[in-house]
This record gives sequence, C-alpha cells and structure tokens, in this order.
Amino acid sequence: MNNGIIYSHRVRELEYQVICGDSDAELCMLAPRSVDLVITSPPYFQQREYGSEGLGNEETVEQYLESIVTTFAKVARVLKPTGNIVYNMGDKIIDGSLQLIPYQFALKVLAEFNLRLVNDITWVKSNPTPHQFSRRLISSTEPFFHFALGRDYYYNRKAFQRADRKRPSKPTKKLGAKYRELIESSSLSQSEKDGAHRALDEVIDDVRKGRIHSFRMKIRGIHAPAYGGQEGGRKMRIERYGFTIIRITGEPLKRDVIENPVESLPGNDHPAVFPVKVIRELIRLLCPEGGMVLDPYLGSGSTMVAALLEGRSCVGIDISRDYCIDAQERVRDALGELSVPAMERLL
Ligand SMILES: C[S@@+](CC[C@H](N)C(=O)[O-])C[C@H]1O[C@@H](n2cnc3c(N)ncnc32)[C@H](O)[C@@H]1O
Repeated sequence: MNNGIIYSHRVRELEYQVICGDSDAELCMLAPRSVDLVITSPPYFQQREYGSEGLGNEETVEQYLESIVTTFAKVARVLKPTGNIVYNMGDKIIDGSLQLIPYQFALKVLAEFNLRLVNDITWVKSNPTPHQFSRRLISSTEPFFHFALGRDYYYNRKAFQRADRKRPSKPTKKLGAKYRELIESSSLSQSEKDGAHRALDEVIDDVRKGRIHSFRMKIRGIHAPAYGGQEGGRKMRIERYGFTIIRITGEPLKRDVIENPVESLPGNDHPAVFPVKVIRELIRLLCPEGGMVLDPYLGSGSTMVAALLEGRSCVGIDISRDYCIDAQERVRDALGELSVPAMERLL
C-alpha cells in the first residue's frame, strides 16, 4: 500500500483530494474543525470483500465496534462546531440471528461522545437482492445515523427532497364550523372556549390569506390526547389552555426515509456503493454550499462525486489503493461530464 494523497484537484475555490491510507492515521493530518459534513459507510463486520486490510476483519463484534469508534473520535476532531456526521452501516447475521450492529454502534457513540443523534434515517432499497429465504424476509433497509456536535448544526430542510408545495384549496365559508360546534359541546370553561374561538378566528384568517395551507384543532375531552415525547408541547397546551392548533404549511412532509435503488457501477467491482442520489440529498440538507465534505472510507468515490455535483469540496480516504484509483477516475469523469453552464452554477 502506498500512502498519501493520490489525487488532488482544484476547481476555483472547490477542492477534491483522494488520500490512500488508514483513516485512523490519515485523519490526524487534517486540520481540526475544518469539515462541515462527514458522510460515510465503514466496512461491514467480517464481510471480507475488501481483502484482509483495514477494518471489518476483527474477530468479535465488540472489537469491530471498538475500532470503528476509535476512528470516529478522530472524525469528530476535524468537524466544525456547526458540523454534521452521517454514518451508514449494515448488519450481519451470525448463527441465524441479526446482531443489530448499526444500533450497537449508535448506542456506543452516544455513550462515549458528547453529541446528539438527530435522526435515524432509513434508506429503503427499492430493488433489494432478489434471493428468497424460506424462513426469513429480505432485508431491504439500512440506517443512516445523523449525529451533530451541538444545537447549532447546519441544516437546510428546504433543500432536502425538494418537491412542489401543495396548492392550497380555496377555503369554504364553513371553514372551522365543525370545530366551533365541538368547542361549544366540550367541557372547557367559558374563558377557555373564548380563547379557542379567538385562536380559531386567527388560524382561519391565515388560511384565507394563503399564509398556511390548512390546520387541525385538538380540544381537551374531545380528541384523544397526544402520545410520545415529540407530542409533549401539544399535550401541554391542551392541558393548559384546553386546545391546540396544528398549522399545516403545505410543504411536503420531510420524513426520515429515503427510498432509492441499490446501485452498482459498470466496470467497478466495489461491493457496497452508495447511491449518489441519496448522498446528494444528505449533502444539500447538511452541508453549506462551498463547504467541505469528508468520507473516511471513500470506497468507489460516490461521496466525492455527490459533493462535486452539489458544489461542495471533498476529501476522501481509503485504505485500498485500487479503490482510490477507481474513485479518482470517477471524479475525473464526473468533472469531465459537467457542462460549462453546470460548472458555472456550481461555483
Ligand atoms: C462500505 S465501503 C465504502 C463504500 C463507499 N461508500 C462507496 O460508495 O463506494 C468501506 C470502505 O472502507 C475501506 N476501508 C477499510 N478499512 C479502512 C481503513 N482502516 N481506513 C480507510 N479505509 C478503510 C474499504 O477499502 C472500503 O472501500
């Protein structure tokens, strides 16, 4: 293995670097607090597809997790305070049983680092490998764990899974009439009823003026109480004021699910390639324009291609020289395929 930078390219202020080497050592060479987004997929436990080098060849799940988490500490060191980390992991069946390795990893990270797990985003593979098992269903999902160092992590919700805003339907004259009846038939006190009618007037006005798409109202004693921690604010308002109003903006709901087929690359035998489309979504969501993306297990270079197409810089590290060369070629091809106007848009 020849360590070091094997590809380095600048396009105006954006830069792309493929580093061949062990992440554990190479990460120490990167400047602290220099990266906006780490997005990666460590080698799976005992898959052995990447040869005997590197991670994944440990004897036990515990040793494997320890190695991944040791490198995770070095990853966290290079992250800006506003930065985000996304780790995608696959599971392993041992003695007929799933090990829940990705979740063991996430719990270990939460126990050992002072950061938060913002989302467990599920990638639904719309074309899983079609072998049928007689006594097991086909696994067709993988988690992408989104961690952030602090509360002020960069986030561009609007840029994620962009879709057209729903057109508001024309509000009818009867808008809110049903809720008025429910307020009157409820056991709220007179002052609570007055407050509920006033809030209803305001939200109906917002709908008529096109500020929001629609709304729902929940009234104490009429509607079932909200469950779960994330519904805590609504529950509190119902208890305190007798009602709560949920304002619906018409923006498509941004769910923690990405459906996308598994990809393979013509002429490239890397066994675990990220779908570039999924990585592009996550880069738009979690990395500012012109920011720096890092993939410490670069593989075939999908993260770098996605970063390039989204106008972000990228550093990638992989222990396999062959994969580094493949990644470099993919990046060169992607650069070559970009038309001049597309390039101008990026920069
Ligand atoms: C799951 S693959 C990444 C695939 C990548 N996301 C893609 O789209 O092609 C994991 C990669 O980690 C690399 N690897 C294993 N141990 C490593 C280490 N200690 N340092 C850097 N890379 C390592 C393997 O060579 C492999 O390419």
